[in-house]
Order: sequence, then structure tokens, then C-alpha cells
Amino acid sequence: MSTPNLDIRDLQVSIEDKQILKGVNLSVNGGEIHAIMGPNGTGKSTLASALMGHPKYEVTGGSVTIDGEDLLEMEVDERARAGLFLAMQYPSEVSGVTNSDFLRSAINAKRGEGNEISLMKFIREMDKQMDVLEMDESFATRYLNEGFSGGEKKRNEILQMMMLKPRFSILDEIDSGLDIDALKIVAAGVNEMRSPERGVIIITHYQRLLNYIKPDFVHVFMQGRIVKSGGPELAERLEQEGYDWVKEELGIVDETVGHKV
Ligand SMILES: Nc1ncnc2c1ncn2[C@@H]1O[C@H](COP(=O)(O)OP(=O)(O)OP(=O)(O)O)[C@@H](O)[C@H]1O
Ligand SMILES: [Mg+2]
Repeated sequence: MSTPNLDIRDLQVSIEDKQILKGVNLSVNGGEIHAIMGPNGTGKSTLASALMGHPKYEVTGGSVTIDGEDLLEMEVDERARAGLFLAMQYPSEVSGVTNSDFLRSAINAKRGEGNEISLMKFIREMDKQMDVLEMDESFATRYLNEGFSGGEKKRNEILQMMMLKPRFSILDEIDSGLDIDALKIVAAGVNEMRSPERGVIIITHYQRLLNYIKPDFVHVFMQGRIVKSGGPELAERLEQEGYDWVKEELGIVDETVGHKV
């Protein structure tokens, strides 16, 4: 198989007729980790949701391909089958569905009818990954995210990623709300997934996470698009100096998508 590739070109997205993404360009290959940093309200999570096919987000221009296939033409479940995964900034709670039932359904939906994972194999795999993430086994039988602490929800998102083994993962602020030990554990989980078969986009506000998950590229998001790209040194400079120098360099006055309060 050729190298996995996710190619976003001039992507424009609106929510309720208000344009949020204004021409996002980003190409991610297998084996690469791309970090996206940027001030609040600049459209980072919107990019993640639009890629997953959230119905509220209307694509008004540009293109996205996954391994050469038109992603924007796909339904949400087809996108997951094509290998796209989103760890959400705010994971939802689903009462009545246990974590393990949810995961097994997600895996089977991806594998397709007649090719379901055996229960034994599923349990073994889930035990193994929960061990890596140092999650108590009770989380398997609790309802999906219900009553989970902020940090537990984030860990659970990474558990989903490790079980589904997607070719492209978008991790939206997986570090927010994690204590220092949990941050290391989650980073170890992401690093374990690192392979030429997989690409990762990490949205984060803090360079600290990138000490544990070394990115190949760092992008700065402002005004609904990527305005600057570089290597890990860019994240270090942002941590030390903030965003003002980027805005000055590019002549940006309002970095948001125009919703500043
Ligand atoms: N469903 C929605 N309905 C209305 N406005 C929305 C919706 N989703 C996003 N927006 C608006 O789009 C803008 C970009 O939001 P987004 O969540 O993408 O920002 P972000 O860069 O992820 O910010 P943060 O760093 O705070 O997470 C914001 O002004 C937000 O209010
Ligand atoms: Mg966000």
C-alpha cells in the first residue's frame, strides 16, 4: 500500500452562514505528527469537526482527500472506515451504552459484516490497552464517559484511538485537564501508535505536550487558516513569546474568525 495521505486544500467552512474556516491548507502523510497551535476561537476545533463530517459545518469551498479519495463526499461512518478518527475536545456522555459495548460496535462497524472481532480477542486487546493507559478495569463496564472526570474522558478518547488504530487521528486538546502523570501516560499511548502507517494531527495550546510527543511540523492557526508553519522550535518560541510576534510579522490585528467579544 502507498503511504497514507490526508490532503486538505483551501478548505472553507461555514456555520449558520458565518464563515469560520477561510482556506486551510495542510497535507499529512503516514508517519508524520503535525501540531496545530493557535489562540482561542480561531477555528481549530471547527477544522476537526468539519473533517469528521459534523452536519452543522457546511463546506463552502476547497477539497479534502484521504488516500486520494474525496473525503467530503463520504458519510461520517464512511470517514471512520476510511481511517479518520477524532478525539474530541469535549467528549459527550452517553448513558445506557457501556464503554466496552461502544468500542466493540465501533470496531465492528469499521471491520464490516462477517468480519467481526471475536469477543475473546476484543477483551484481550481492551485489557492490554487499558493497562498501557493505566485505566481501572471498571471503566470497561461504565457508561460511555458518564461521570468520568475531565482527565478520565481524555484517557478514554485515547483508548478509543488505540483500539481503532485509525490511519489518521485528530487529537483536539487531549492534554487539557490532564495532570502531569496522566499527560505522560496519554503521550506514551500516542507514541506507541506512531508508525509509517499512521498520521496524527495534535491540536494543543501547550508546548509541554510536545516535549512528550515530538511533532515533525508545527502550524499556527489564526483567522480560520494556517498562517505559519515550522518545526518543533516554532512551538518553543510560541510558549516563550506568545502570539504577538506572529501577528506583527503577518500584519494580523484580530486573530479570531471575527467573533471576538
Ligand atoms: N456550532 C457552532 N455554532 C456557532 N458558532 C460556532 C460553532 N462552532 C464554532 N463556532 C464559532 O467558531 C469560532 C471558532 O471556534 P473553534 O471551536 O473552532 O475555535 P478553536 O480554535 O478550537 O478555539 P479553542 O482554542 O478555544 O478551542 C468561534 O467563534 C466559535 O464560537
Ligand atoms: Mg477548540
